[in-house]
Amino acid sequence: MHQEVCKAGSFALPGSSLRVNRMGYGAMQLAGRDGNKLVWGPPRDVDEAMAVLREAVASGVNHIDTSDYYGPHVTNQIIRRALSPYGDDLVIVTKVGARRGKDGSWIPAFSREELMGAVQDNLRNLGLDALDVVNLRSLFSVHGPAEGSIEEPLTVLAELQQKGLIRHIGLSNVTPAQVAEGRRIVPIVCVQNQYNLAHRADDALIADLARDGIAYVPFFPLGGFTPLQSTALSEAASHLVATPMQVALAWLLQRSPNILVIPGTSSLKHLRENLEAVTLQIPAKVLADLDSLPQPGSALAAAGSES
Ligand SMILES: NC(=O)c1ccc[n+]([C@@H]2O[C@H](COP(=O)([O-])OP(=O)(O)OC[C@H]3O[C@@H](n4cnc5c(N)ncnc54)[C@H](OP(=O)(O)O)[C@@H]3O)[C@@H](O)[C@H]2O)c1
Repeated sequence: MHQEVCKAGSFALPGSSLRVNRMGYGAMQLAGRDGNKLVWGPPRDVDEAMAVLREAVASGVNHIDTSDYYGPHVTNQIIRRALSPYGDDLVIVTKVGARRGKDGSWIPAFSREELMGAVQDNLRNLGLDALDVVNLRSLFSVHGPAEGSIEEPLTVLAELQQKGLIRHIGLSNVTPAQVAEGRRIVPIVCVQNQYNLAHRADDALIADLARDGIAYVPFFPLGGFTPLQSTALSEAASHLVATPMQVALAWLLQRSPNILVIPGTSSLKHLRENLEAVTLQIPAKVLADLDSLPQPGSALAAAGSES
């Protein structure tokens, strides 16, 4: 499988020595759930969570997305237990800009003290001296990207980069104007926004970033807490002798060379299925059918949002 994961190709983060395979892994699903509190507390099966991480890396995944507010702390602690000492080529990307309320809510945490504390939390729980990539996760609205200046918090991250605690900086849940503002302040290596077959608001942004060699990392690539479902997707999958989730991932990989996928799963079975998507080539006719799937507001549009 190691060879297979590499089949999706790799991507060099701009201005860095970091190169990651385009098939990555998102660790959010490794935290548990407590009633309505999502991504909260320990997972149902810690051993399987560790096995998922180890098998992902053994299969060639070298890009893991996380945050210390998953759990909180739990996901990073599992990553450390499962994978440290980390391999030289492993790139762990984390994010700051939110904290969790006791009720499980996602609260903006953009002050200097909160950002510095969040970076220290990530360093401690991951067991690292420096973080490869830190995304500033914007939270001006609970419904998705919303306008507002990110200059102050991004300047704090730039200072931490100068101090050597952060190697590279990315942005998450941002508008094109915020990406432009961010790029005037500090080099941005990646942008992580919600994007999948049913949620394609960022088509133009992806093309702009591709032109400048910046990675675009879709979150909720499979639809998030409510995985994608549609007749057209199921028909495409059955035509290609694949599963709908594999088609959703292969579609992203074929969509643009700067897209890096980070599907999340707590299950070994789903991990294996997702990694196999790298071998799937969607023919032009099927791609065209998938491209014309309905967009947000439709029944297919996925529910749920991190914030
Ligand atoms: N920047 C942000 O604001 C933000 C927001 C959300 C997420 N993220 C990042 O993006 C990553 C990916 O997003 P996500 O994990 O929320 O959503 P996702 O990858 O779109 O989907 C995960 C969901 O799909 C299920 N699933 C995974 N593989 C499957 C398969 N082969 N067949 C059927 N169901 C499958 C998972 O359940 P099982 O566990 O049962 O497989 C889980 O419920 C996260 O892990 C996180 O690192 C970032």
